[in-house]
Amino acid sequence: MLRILTLETTCDETAAAVVTGELEVLGAVVASQVELHQRFGGVVPEIASRAHVERILPVIHQTLEQAGITLQELDAVAVANRPGLSGSLLVGLLAAKTLAMVCDLPLIAVDHLQAHIYACRIASGKNIFPCVGLIVSGGHSNLYRCQSPLDFTPLGGTIDDAAGEAFDKVASMLGLPYPGGPAIERVAKQGDPRRFKLPRPLVSDSSRLEFSFSGLKTAVRYELFGPGRVPMGVAAKLEPKLVADMAASFQEAVVECLVAKSVLALQQEKADRLCVGGGVAANGRFREAMENASQEHGFELFIPPLNLCTDNAVMGAIAVERYRAGLFESLGLDITAGLVR
Ligand code: KG4
Ligand code: ZN
Repeated sequence: MLRILTLETTCDETAAAVVTGELEVLGAVVASQVELHQRFGGVVPEIASRAHVERILPVIHQTLEQAGITLQELDAVAVANRPGLSGSLLVGLLAAKTLAMVCDLPLIAVDHLQAHIYACRIASGKNIFPCVGLIVSGGHSNLYRCQSPLDFTPLGGTIDDAAGEAFDKVASMLGLPYPGGPAIERVAKQGDPRRFKLPRPLVSDSSRLEFSFSGLKTAVRYELFGPGRVPMGVAAKLEPKLVADMAASFQEAVVECLVAKSVLALQQEKADRLCVGGGVAANGRFREAMENASQEHGFELFIPPLNLCTDNAVMGAIAVERYRAGLFESLGLDITAGLVR
């Protein structure tokens, strides 16, 4: 039985998993760093990489223990080496290379964004290819043509902020805690999504498979505080009703943009499957709106359960496909922090 150890340290979760050739998960651990970054209102790269250094070995040990196997029983080690924060990526890569060298294991490189899409394959147990893939995370909002687990072509993406980043920044403007996505979703449940008329950037332009969330963020800021500098501490004094209504209005605007461009991509690609991944896909309103769109436009929708939407190492099981295709790396493997197009 093929058994691969996968490592994930692209951003602020230290994660490992042992997966089999049949995509069975034998062990999986995620050590979240949310509590370390919370008081800064966002991920601090230097803190993230230092925390990865402290956590990577205990996380690997715990994962192997859960799986009930030793390092000697592994067939390969895989690591997400792109894209992400440089310092964070380096920790996972170094750990993986060390294991590959010491235990004489083949080394497999995982693209974190492709892995997010592959989470749909693991969660559904079905073939998902070919499909259109949508990644909506803290760092990325991208659409892909996914021909096979080894063939992803970018179709478009955000021209400024990622959807998750916009959630995090707007939450901070509203005096809500980090990470902003879950906090906005929580308060939006009591809010009126029609109270504020926020823009839906690029939605009416059907020639572009692109997103833009920066102007939407600014629109929220102007609605709340007007132009100019925002005085310190003012967010904490916002009325709870106003916070809830703005959270709901903002969430609705982001969701509408994501749904509209996904539908456009499906139409352009003449595809009938949409696979979604990334932290923002954990959002309940997003999931509901995508379900409605799938009914209305007749496409098959794949969205993984919440724990496979946010960063995890189970989705690194895409390494099984690379193993089968003989795609191994040398110990000279490096990280790529940004997107490769
Ligand atoms: O995929 P992920 O865990 O990490 C990255 O690779 O970026 O995504 C994290 C992002 C954060 O911006 C967070 O606010 C957002 O996902 N997020 C959500 C929700 N849960 C996490 N956004 C909206 N609603 C949620 N329920
Ligand atoms: Zn991610």
